[in-house]
Amino acid sequence: LDNGLAKTPAMGWNSWNHFACNINEDLIKATADQIVNSGLAALGYNYINLDDCWQISRDADGYIVEDKEKFPSGIKALADYVHSKGLKFGLYSDAGEFTCQKRPGSLGYEVKDAQRYAEWEVDYLKYDNCFNKNINPKIRYPPMRDALNATGRPIYFSMCEWGQYNPATWAPEVGNSWRTTGDIKDRYSSFLSILEKQVGLEKYAHPGAWNDPDMLEVGNGGMTTHEYEAHFALWALLKAPLLIGCDVSKMSEDTIRILTNKEIIAINQDPLGIQGHRVKKSGFWFWSWQLWMGQLEDGVAIILFNTSAWERNLSFTFKEVGIVGPATIRDLYQHEDLGVFSNSFSAIVPKHGVVVVKVVPV
Ligand code: GLA
Repeated sequence: LDNGLAKTPAMGWNSWNHFACNINEDLIKATADQIVNSGLAALGYNYINLDDCWQISRDADGYIVEDKEKFPSGIKALADYVHSKGLKFGLYSDAGEFTCQKRPGSLGYEVKDAQRYAEWEVDYLKYDNCFNKNINPKIRYPPMRDALNATGRPIYFSMCEWGQYNPATWAPEVGNSWRTTGDIKDRYSSFLSILEKQVGLEKYAHPGAWNDPDMLEVGNGGMTTHEYEAHFALWALLKAPLLIGCDVSKMSEDTIRILTNKEIIAINQDPLGIQGHRVKKSGFWFWSWQLWMGQLEDGVAIILFNTSAWERNLSFTFKEVGIVGPATIRDLYQHEDLGVFSNSFSAIVPKHGVVVVKVVPV
């Protein structure tokens, strides 16, 4: 969507993956504080986004009303607090009668809701797909785009249509990003099956318009550290919005190390905005692995992803990734220059883990 936003994928935090409906203003304020104090904000994680369950009803004039028990100071005050920390503030609604948790949806209330968001100085709207009366999303999503646009306030428009109507083929005109699948779960199998569904979507993404394979689960505890490293690196390469989904007040050292990896973040935020793609998927499931690559402004990012059940030595040739050697290679998780290579590269990759390198022809 050409609204001046998301020249690179959005980065920030969203309440859903860890807290679901257990949200309130103290939690959101503490999260904003922690995003700044932990250094995450300085790395680019600047959206603080409420997901479902902040809203409760509509007033007599049809305007949306926040849950005053959980947000006694009101959404405007919360947005002001988030802004006072130098961050941006996001809300959630639904292109249907109700949200997925049965709060009031925005279908038919697009203009009033967009006006209210703009008054509250909202910067980001995630727009979900529940209770949609079986109306085609191509009809349900543009009215909110237009209503947001009409407010004159730049508001990132995140479409959450779950990939049901091939959104990549039409959503680039409607949203700044669009979900490509159903919900991620904090399990390796979920991450892997979502990843599989991203193959081929790379041609539709560009600055202002990104495929969204759903939010990060890093730090939520259901995957191993190597699996989280793979999840984070592949999401970065896919130019996914990088929305942290864990409790940032309780991050382990590994969680912090992964989420603050500047060199992986730089893949995601590369100014060219070219989504990476899978070069090959190899082997029976026991011995399987995948090779991914992404063009960067000043080199090529390569991910060796070991989906097999054992640690393995994996390799790629320069020819298969279109590099004319010699080239320097740097390991982006080890933060180590590995030297100059001329034809190929190989590395030991842990089970369900990745080796991520940046290749720069010399
Ligand atoms: C849907 C969305 C999720 C989340 C929940 C909230 O399932 O896909 O990302 O927003 O609704 O109810």
